[in-house]
Amino acid sequence: MVDWQRQHGRQSLPWQNTQDPYRVWLSEIMLQQTQVSTVLDYFPRFLARFPAVDALAAAPQDDVLALWSGLGYYSRARNLHKCAQEVMGRFGGAFPRRAEDLQTLPGIGRSTAAAIAAFCFQERAAILDGNVKRVLTRVLGYGEDLAVAKNEKALWALAQALLPASAADMPRYTQALMDLGATVCLPRKAQCEACPVRAVCQAQTQGEPLAYPVKTRKLKRSSATLWLLWAVNAQGQVWLQKRPNTGIWAGLYSLPVFESEADLLAAWTQGGQPQYIEPWKHVLTHRDLHLHPVRMVGKAARGPACEGQWVQASAWPAMGLPAPIRMLLATA
Ligand code: ADE
Repeated sequence: MVDWQRQHGRQSLPWQNTQDPYRVWLSEIMLQQTQVSTVLDYFPRFLARFPAVDALAAAPQDDVLALWSGLGYYSRARNLHKCAQEVMGRFGGAFPRRAEDLQTLPGIGRSTAAAIAAFCFQERAAILDGNVKRVLTRVLGYGEDLAVAKNEKALWALAQALLPASAADMPRYTQALMDLGATVCLPRKAQCEACPVRAVCQAQTQGEPLAYPVKTRKLKRSSATLWLLWAVNAQGQVWLQKRPNTGIWAGLYSLPVFESEADLLAAWTQGGQPQYIEPWKHVLTHRDLHLHPVRMVGKAARGPACEGQWVQASAWPAMGLPAPIRMLLATA
């Protein structure tokens, strides 16, 4: 695995070739739910604005969310900010070195803690994210249902037992597992001919690489209908409100959201013709959002009967707006 990583793995991503836990942590959080090509765009911008953990900790939450805008899963950004503040407050501004301590910080789970500890401090700590679960269950022929907690726990123990004996190999071994899962041992296509461990892989021996991992629990999807009041005043400003810290688009700035058309219309007291924008479906991981914007143009200085403020277009780019709202406003 270590030799393979040296020859065939990814070598020059901007968060590699550093042992700075701030950079490694930031990249791992961004990469949790976002593909590498997108993170390549966001990571340098984020670092330019917040070069170190103290700068991030001291920033207003709105600035952090604004730089995260478009990456989705905004609880990551809120936890990132909280984590930076705890690193300053609880650890004197230096990330703890042990996975066990890293795991006590907001937004850092067991696998992310292990990745930081392995990459930066050569700790023999196993990672086990979705990609690595696939690689290991295939190599080991591990057919138990990972939706059952005790099976997942058993796989953690196996992952730990497979680690290289030498701590010095930990960074490259950890990267090798990630690279193998991302480039070779793919969910619907296992490129076994390119795999460095095919000779010992149980799934390959059985001729059934795609049979693993076994998962029975189905992802439950839900859907919601959101009515969006797109209120515009005579100066072309738009009424935006800061979302509460929980729920959909938590902490971001959005058009006011209503559960029904009637609620939306009740919040607009200036008359005029509502313009119904063609609704569309915005797909999130666990939920479909059916978005129904209604545009209202008013003459009065006052806003609609809901929380918010008038904001001019030049201010939108620097604000944390949900991606679909940003798209919608760009169509005007
Ligand atoms: N995904 C999660 N961590 C990663 C890393 N260090 N390099 C590439 N992809 C990743």
